[in-house]
Parts: sequence; C-alpha cells; structure tokens
Amino acid sequence: MTNHKKRPLVPLYMAIKGCPTPRNDKDFSIDHHRDECIGCGACAALSENWFMEDDGKASVKVVDLDSLGENKEAAESCPVNCIHLIDNKSKKKLI
Ligand code: F3S
Repeated sequence: MTNHKKRPLVPLYMAIKGCPTPRNDKDFSIDHHRDECIGCGACAALSENWFMEDDGKASVKVVDLDSLGENKEAAESCPVNCIHLIDNKSKKKLI
C-alpha cells in the first residue's frame, strides 16, 4: 500500500497572501476591462499599443510593459475608465 501525500492545489508561494513574487518581470501591466469599452477609439488614436477590433471594441497588443509610454495617455483619455495601469512593484493601480 502506498502512502501518497496530497498535493496542494496551487503552489505554496501563490497561496501565501501578500507574497512578494511579482506576476512577471515587467514594471507595469495593463488591466483592460474590455466588457466596459464603448468603442470610442481614443486609446487606439493615442497609442500604437491599442487597436480596434471588428466588434467595435478596443484591444491591447502588449499587456506587460517596461514603461508606460503612450498607454498612460490612452488610459487617461478613456471616457469610461476601463483601462487601468498597474505598478507591478508596489502592486498599486496607477489609473
Ligand atoms: Fe474603449 Fe476606452 Fe479605448 S472606451 S476604445 S478602451 S478609450
């Protein structure tokens, strides 16, 4: 008879609240709430990282970034505030 130990469902470092392990090695991440997008197109007009899809809503090309670049202007211009920028080091929402 074998005595298998049960494995945790998630790795331990992911289960610990406040774990300092970053989500990725990039400084910033974009959190686009696409379901809230009304398709105004301001983000795509201001940043090459954004484009309009056939359904009339925007999508982002690169989510994890070394620098914000024009994504900051894109987020600030969104009339429904559905583009959020996350500082991965502090884990704070910048916009
Ligand atoms: Fe949509 Fe906001 Fe861009 S409404 S098209 S995500 S500026």
